[in-house]
This record gives sequence, C-alpha cells and structure tokens, in this order.
Amino acid sequence: MSSILVTGANGQIGSELVDTLRARHGDAHVIGLDLRRPSSDTAATPGPPSANGHAPGSSDDAPFVVADVRDRDALASAIKRYDVGTVYHLASLLSANGEKVPDRTWDVNINGLKHVLDLAREHEMQVFWPSSIAVFGPSTPRENTPQNTVLNPSTMYGVTKRSGELLCQYYHQRYGVDVRSLRYPGLISYATLPGGGTTDYAVDMYYEALRSGSYTCFVREDTRLPMMYMPDAIGATLDLMRADASDLTVRDSYNVTAMSFSAGELADTIREHLPAFSCSFEPDSRQDIADAWPATIDDSTARQDWNWTPDYDLEAMTADMLDHLRETLPEDAESIER
Ligand SMILES: NC(=O)c1ccc[n+]([C@@H]2O[C@H](COP(=O)([O-])OP(=O)(O)OC[C@H]3O[C@@H](n4cnc5c(N)ncnc54)[C@H](O)[C@@H]3O)[C@@H](O)[C@H]2O)c1
Repeated sequence: MSSILVTGANGQIGSELVDTLRARHGDAHVIGLDLRRPSSDTAATPGPPSANGHAPGSSDDAPFVVADVRDRDALASAIKRYDVGTVYHLASLLSANGEKVPDRTWDVNINGLKHVLDLAREHEMQVFWPSSIAVFGPSTPRENTPQNTVLNPSTMYGVTKRSGELLCQYYHQRYGVDVRSLRYPGLISYATLPGGGTTDYAVDMYYEALRSGSYTCFVREDTRLPMMYMPDAIGATLDLMRADASDLTVRDSYNVTAMSFSAGELADTIREHLPAFSCSFEPDSRQDIADAWPATIDDSTARQDWNWTPDYDLEAMTADMLDHLRETLPEDAESIER
C-alpha cells in the first residue's frame, strides 16, 4: 500500500491523528512530518531527516521527517521516498499566534498548502486540509451560520484559511485533485496542548481546574463559540476522507460542529465535577477574534453528504476530559478534589 503523510504531526491534532492512523494502517505506512522531532526527543533541533528517517523513541517502523512545509523540495523528496498516496496537511500557524507574525502566517499557511496541492497534482495524491471557523467574520450571521454565507475574516489566519479553501476548490475543479476539507470549530483534547488558537481557553480551563483549582479566562463569560472534542474531530476527518467522492457537494470546506457553549457555561459544567473550582474572566486581545466568529454553526450539508454526526456534547466531553487528565495530573487532581 502507498503511505500516508501527516504534516504538523507534533501538533494538537496531528499527534492524535498519527496515532489513530498508525493503529489502523501500521507504523511503517504513516509518516509524520514537522519542524522538529516529537517531544519524546525534545533535545533534537530542526534539520534534515535522519539517515533512516525514523523518529527516535518510536519503533523502527515509524518514519518521521523533519522538514519545513515551505520547502517544496523537502516535501517532494519525502513523498517520493515513502511512496505517499494521501496527505493530511495540518502544518499551520494558528489564529492568536498568527496575528503576531502575519507575514510568516501567510507564508506557512498558503505557500505550504500550494506546495502540497502541486505535488498532489503531480503524484495523484488525495489531500485533507483543515480550514476553520476563522473564515467567517464580523458581518457573517453569528447564529446557525450557513454553509454558504458572508466570508470576511478579520485575522491573517482567517484570510489564509479562506484563501486556502478557494485554492483547494480551484485545484479540484481545474486539475481534478481529490482535496477535501473541514472548517473545524475550536478543538478540545487532553493528549497534546493546543498551539496558540483563540479557543485554547477551553482546554486551559480543564487543566487549571485540576492543577490549581482556579483559572483566569482570556475571553468574557458570555463568549459562546462552536467546539468539538478531539475524538469527533478525528472521526469527522477520517469519515470525510473515506466518503464516496460522488457524494461530496462541497469542495471548498464543510461546516462541522458538535456543540456551542459560553466560557461561563464551561466553567459551570466543570464545577459540577469540581465544586471548588473558581473562574474569573479578563478578556485580552483574543476577545476581538472570538467576537468576530460564529456562536453556532449549521452543518446540515456535512450531515446530508457524508452522514456527519458527533458523539460528544459538553457533559460527555467534560466527564471524559477530567477522567483522562486525572490520569496525567494525578497529584494535583487529588488535592483539588479534597
Ligand atoms: N486546534 C484547533 O482548535 C483548530 C481549529 C480549526 C482549525 N485547525 C487547523 O488544524 C490544523 C492543525 O492544528 P493544530 O491545532 O494541531 O495546530 P498546532 O499548532 O497544535 O500544530 C501545528 C503543527 O504544525 C507545525 N508547523 C508549523 N509551521 C510549520 C512549518 N513551516 N513546517 C512544518 N511544520 C510546521 C508545528 O510545529 C506544529 O507541530 C491547522 O491547519 C489549524 O489551522 C485547528
């Protein structure tokens, strides 16, 4: 079988996607790619792939490539070397961090995607590329935001996501590249910390509820955003990639969501498990980004086209998050619960 390449493999999504794909297809068939090796080898610095291309600390069958997605030749050589047939192109700068370095955000997010699409055309690869609710903007309807609506992003990250959506659609229509995309909402997970997005407060709140029993949230209490638990995000991604191409009516990017809640509601739900948890709200510059994004999303097209349906709501996600974090933060958790 041809291999699967995951760029941004060390990130919040990439780390879990690589594990899921390796469990399904075997270590040797799933190649991680990122700027540095996974954290089991944190001392490593960016550089060319090792002689055997394998990630230190993983089995000899788990290949890993250290490369920058802006380097087309490095991508091309990894694709040829491992006979790649599918790319999950996750490498990106995110919304909040991206606003600090807009030029780099454009360079990584757009030029990296263009390289992947050009190589997909050349090597007939299938591509998954995530977009985001950041494609919407202040004049987009905030409630039940439709699949097709006003798209006027206010951040460079959002600009790259909308531009990327159009690039994907163009490569599909013009060159027949089988590229598929989801507009992920804020993603919540316990395995790997998020990488500088506007919805990071949701993950931080769980950690701090267990670690210290209190949290200062960087958006207002009434800030309501669409969210999804990581198992649903991985499931949606793999379901979309498996779907029959003839069922797909959207080739820029599908709206998908699982739940919407305010920061205050999240704190209340955590308090049902940890009654002593206290949360204060001190909005910073990320509030402006959150205010420009939808509160709830209409994902009926994804539900119709490829039967998208999430498993987790706020209550189920909170119980699962706290269970898993108690395993990784056992001593802190004990002290708070007492
Ligand atoms: N996490 C979310 O809530 C969320 C929501 C919507 C969309 N997305 C999208 O999903 C994708 C993955 O997001 P994530 O949360 O895992 O991000 P993350 O920040 O956790 O991980 C991104 C990874 O990309 C790598 N990377 C950055 N620049 C690179 C480069 N030039 N070359 C190679 N690797 C590079 C980073 O080292 C990092 O490991 C991104 O496209 C992001 O925009 C994420």
